Amino acid sequence: MSKTIIISNRLPLQISIEDDKLEVTPSVGGLATGLKSFHKDGDSIWIGWPGLTKEEIPENLLEKVQSEAKKENCVAVNLTSDEIDGFYYGFSNRTIWPLFHYFMQYTESEDEYWQYYKQVNQKYADEIIKHYEEGDVIWVHDYQLLLVPNMIREQAPEATIGFFNHIPFPSYEVFRTLPWRDEVLKGVLGADLIGFHTYDYERHFLSSVSRILRYQVDFNEVTLPDRIVKVDSFPMGIDYKKFEDAALEHFKNTEKEQSELQQRLDHHLNATPNAKMILSIDRLDYTKGIAHRIRAFEYFLDKNPEYIEKVRLVMLAVPSRSNVPQYRRLKREIDELVGRINGKFSTVSWTPIWYFYRSLPFENLIDLYTSCKIALLTPIRDGMNLVAKEYIATRTDHTGVLILSEMAGAAHEMNEALIINPNDFEQVSAALKQAFEMPEEEQMERNKRLQKRLRRYSVEKWAQDFMKALKKTRENQDSFQST
Ligand code: ADP
Ligand code: G6P
Repeated sequence: MSKTIIISNRLPLQISIEDDKLEVTPSVGGLATGLKSFHKDGDSIWIGWPGLTKEEIPENLLEKVQSEAKKENCVAVNLTSDEIDGFYYGFSNRTIWPLFHYFMQYTESEDEYWQYYKQVNQKYADEIIKHYEEGDVIWVHDYQLLLVPNMIREQAPEATIGFFNHIPFPSYEVFRTLPWRDEVLKGVLGADLIGFHTYDYERHFLSSVSRILRYQVDFNEVTLPDRIVKVDSFPMGIDYKKFEDAALEHFKNTEKEQSELQQRLDHHLNATPNAKMILSIDRLDYTKGIAHRIRAFEYFLDKNPEYIEKVRLVMLAVPSRSNVPQYRRLKREIDELVGRINGKFSTVSWTPIWYFYRSLPFENLIDLYTSCKIALLTPIRDGMNLVAKEYIATRTDHTGVLILSEMAGAAHEMNEALIINPNDFEQVSAALKQAFEMPEEEQMERNKRLQKRLRRYSVEKWAQDFMKALKKTRENQDSFQST
């Protein structure tokens, strides 16, 4: 029977070793959390990196790592620490990630990183070929594996290959600065169908293909000598039911069953009349606009002192890519900013910012989503932003206000949120005030509309739409080749 082979750099499960024992935790990040439910429900295997380098796994535990992965229908790819440095911390996260998010000042162009990128992409492609059988569908994910589609095509010309990019694709003027732009575009074009979260990313990609490679582009099709490649947008949804059910379950819990975090959140709400909490959740990443957010919050308190002691910014930042210098610098900047603002505004009984720098279990995420009447998500650039969608799905009484950056892919589908430019502190501050003062009926009206849409365009629907389009592209391909 044919199967789907999912391939992404990071597996949905992370393996670590404590005292010779393996620990398995879920991965953080939109790709893993989103795709997990598609994988769970279907007949697929998932190939990727389990989070440990080859050198970190003792000989005697190698088999065990593979068998832990196998329990979840995953295959763990072994990467050496040099490969992780050059491919993951290097080309993926010091070249492609900043460039595709328009942080050109952070973009490094090291040939050594590029060599590792090619080597590791080849390793992933070879691993796919080991598991590939005729009739299987291969689905490659994200910016770490841009060369994989063509590397598979070279070894299995007849294969059905889809590629989905989870981050923005930048405008031609930005993309053209990449020294390896031709190779990257040709790598992705090994796929039959290429998907992006938004129409803008799709157009940017097509314009790069036509202007850099000079290939014929008609509407959303690229004509190659032997094949036609289709490009389309598929905005990724969330596992709506999972978040809705978790929120409903959360409200059933008696006081005794509450987490420590929930008790602290309740304590703040009970101690301060009319208190409201503003939530932010992200990986600690410079694209997420965390520093902007804190500064905008300071601006808001400066301008609206009547909110002192009535509001708290609850900020969860999950550690990410800490071997890349910009991430370490950002961590220091955020620590300093939080310290300075807490020092500036705190009173004996109140601190304006609660800052958590760690990964929290799912139950705690739900505590945060359900306790905060406002969510403030201000990315400077973000492919989608699933946190925005998850927040709305957990508002089961329909109250709550989402303030969302127009730079997030999700903003295209979430017009009922308060959409802001994260660089405009005056606008963010005005949106916070509007959120505090918004009548409940208006909140409910906006959220019901959002919820209806998010429920319908769930992650299951996203995956089904992509798969359907891939199969159709493939059928058209076969008839193109036989003419
Ligand atoms: P990105 O993919 O850039 O990290 P998204 O907002 O699209 O940003 O996705 C982040 C995902 O990570 C969300 O699905 C969110 O629920 C999940 N997440 C965030 N924090 C945690 C955490 N502490 N533990 C587990 N999952 C988390
Ligand atoms: C984003 C990317 C994913 C990545 C995730 C977490 O969602 O699109 O590909 O897995 O961030 O980043 P990490 O570097 O920890 O895998």
